[in-house]
Amino acid sequence: MSTHSKLMVGNWKMNGNLAANASLISDVLAGMSSVGCRTAVCVPSVYLSQLQTLLKGSAIDLGAQDVSAQLSGAFTGEISASMLQDFAVRYCIVGHSERRQYHNETDALVATKAQRALAAGITPIVCVGESLAEREAGQTEAVVKRQLAAVIHANGHCISEIVVAYEPVWAIGTGLTASPEQAQQVHAVLRAQLQAASAHADRVSILYGGSMNATNAAELLAQPDVDGGLIGGAALKAPDFLSMLKTASR
Ligand code: 13P
Repeated sequence: MSTHSKLMVGNWKMNGNLAANASLISDVLAGMSSVGCRTAVCVPSVYLSQLQTLLKGSAIDLGAQDVSAQLSGAFTGEISASMLQDFAVRYCIVGHSERRQYHNETDALVATKAQRALAAGITPIVCVGESLAEREAGQTEAVVKRQLAAVIHANGHCISEIVVAYEPVWAIGTGLTASPEQAQQVHAVLRAQLQAASAHADRVSILYGGSMNATNAAELLAQPDVDGGLIGGAALKAPDFLSMLKTASR
């Protein structure tokens, strides 16, 4: 179990527009007085400036969805950690399965991205998770351990400053959720791996992600090593997101 309060992060992915973002955030902020967990939203980069303004002084932290592994220079389309810093970004997702899958991101690249974020004072949310084929082949533990090991190797004692998100690929956007037992089993493996690498592993929040919603959040969050959630679709609906934030505040 992490020593911190639960952390609930909305990953907006490639959704939203200026008007919809303003309306969603206004509705969420209106319900925040009864929320006691840590909360963040990871938004498309072009909206970081808008969200920085909308979230100023609120209890919701700002996050990005990716960061370049490069520091600066001729890397068309990339966004550096120092650029994210300019917008008071607190968290940055790295190694989301959609980036690993559609942009061929490797474990080594993800580890470098985590390093760039940490060096800029941004907490990387390192995503790990197995595909359905890997689960069915009994490789779940080996896959998530390999993915996390790359980040531990590259980041040494800073590892206690990261957040980890276990997102089984087969559960993302599919409506299929890992059972609370399946989630806990993998989270315990990740916790043990972090403990072996750092004396301060209990500072690391391990989030679950993959079709988490207002109905299943409570039983997932009740698991001893589930320290919060990384939420896609359900974070785009203010009532659902707020309901999950309240569940995580208990
Ligand atoms: P869904 O909650 O839409 O399944 O997405 C999970 C996810 O990928 C969060 O990063």
